[in-house]
Amino acid sequence: MTGRGVLLLDAGGPESGALARAAAARGHPVHAATATAAAYAGYGPELKALLAGRVVTDFARPDRALAEIVAYARRYDIGAVLTVNEYLTELTALVCAELGVPGNDPGRARAARDKAAMAEAFAAYGVRTPYTVLVRDDAGLRAAPEDPRIGFPYVVKPVSGAGSAGVTVVTGPAGAATAADAARAVTGMYGSGFPGILVQAYAAGTEYSVESVTQGGTTTHLAVTRKRVTGGPRRVETGHSLPIHLPPAVEAAAYREVEAAIAAAGIRHGASHTEVIVGADGRCTVIEIAARLAAGQIGVLIQHALGIDVWTALLDTALGRPAELTPTAGGYATVRFLTSPRTGRLTSVSGLPKPQPGVPFVRRRAAIGDTVHEPSTNSHRLGSFVVTGSDAAEVEERADALLRRVRIGVQPLPGPAQARPASTSAIAP
Ligand SMILES: Nc1ncnc2c1ncn2[C@@H]1O[C@H](COP(=O)(O)OP(=O)(O)OP(=O)(O)O)[C@@H](O)[C@H]1O
Ligand SMILES: [Mg+2]
Repeated sequence: MTGRGVLLLDAGGPESGALARAAAARGHPVHAATATAAAYAGYGPELKALLAGRVVTDFARPDRALAEIVAYARRYDIGAVLTVNEYLTELTALVCAELGVPGNDPGRARAARDKAAMAEAFAAYGVRTPYTVLVRDDAGLRAAPEDPRIGFPYVVKPVSGAGSAGVTVVTGPAGAATAADAARAVTGMYGSGFPGILVQAYAAGTEYSVESVTQGGTTTHLAVTRKRVTGGPRRVETGHSLPIHLPPAVEAAAYREVEAAIAAAGIRHGASHTEVIVGADGRCTVIEIAARLAAGQIGVLIQHALGIDVWTALLDTALGRPAELTPTAGGYATVRFLTSPRTGRLTSVSGLPKPQPGVPFVRRRAAIGDTVHEPSTNSHRLGSFVVTGSDAAEVEERADALLRRVRIGVQPLPGPAQARPASTSAIAP
């Protein structure tokens, strides 16, 4: 090992694993900050073997976590600090600033985490975003849709949620209370939710995300991704595809909004994932920004479609070295998420493709016997697979055909709520 140490805040999950491998392959000792010893115990053997050391800290107490992580980092000559965990992006910015290593503006980092702060920052930076109000009680909730800037339909969401948890599209007065309860029930991964819920104007259109890397304040957009999302009150992602080529004027307008959002969130060194809706008039509305690499295998899609090694690029960015962001391939890639048709006990999964040419990534994350859910958040995914190739239409067709072959068996859980029979059919649309 020759390079300076690289510290990952929460190293669980496939994206962190890929970052750890990229760092180790470049000769950097890799360290992890984990929430509990149990969180570390859940890491796979390959990751554990890679780690040069770890610090266990309580992410629910950010001041203390900051002090403990910084003290650890100083002991081990840490030269780069990264996270792919949505809930730790603000803490990561604070750690970077304290250590003097490349990172995001610690004074603005909350704007990428707390959606009330995000709405304020977007307004201050002129980002086109849905009108948003922070509601603290039932009277505020009833009053919000009477504001002509909101109206019906509108969206209720938690201030600090992720993965679409607790987000509801409300189409009439009857849906408001249930939507508010769903948003209030979201506490955040480390129990550090911010108080209040948000009521937001509904932006109609097609959903995309823009995947970007910012180095020293200069942003490179790697790809526009089209999101497949369920309709109805609970919007859950069912797949992503990239690269999408928007009409040049629409793309330019989207990039302008995204760059304003990146500035608003203080993103100076690192990845960002900005979710936008493009309306029928071609205008772009920013729904949210995350100061991290996109989840949902979008990193794998970028790697296979564009030939960009995003993990090495993020490592270089975090070390303050120029990152290699030029595409070396001109392909296309898509991911499909497996979801359960209903809540119950998972009894079987069959027909899942095996990794093969054009199918570079297959992941099953639910085990037989697990309780599974009709999806209302991204965490209800049972697995995913990626399809790549040179022709977008062929790739999409192949992915759909492979998805149709997957069969998911779910047995009702005991109890009165489970009247429907077991299913042998599959997947959300
Ligand atoms: N203002 C809005 N107008 C239209 N649709 C919206 C709006 N806000 C949210 N949605 C829909 O709800 C989904 C989830 O909302 P949002 O992205 O704010 O939540 P999240 O928990 O941060 O999600 P994730 O972490 O999955 O990106 C969006 O992808 C979109 O489909
Ligand atoms: Mg989102």
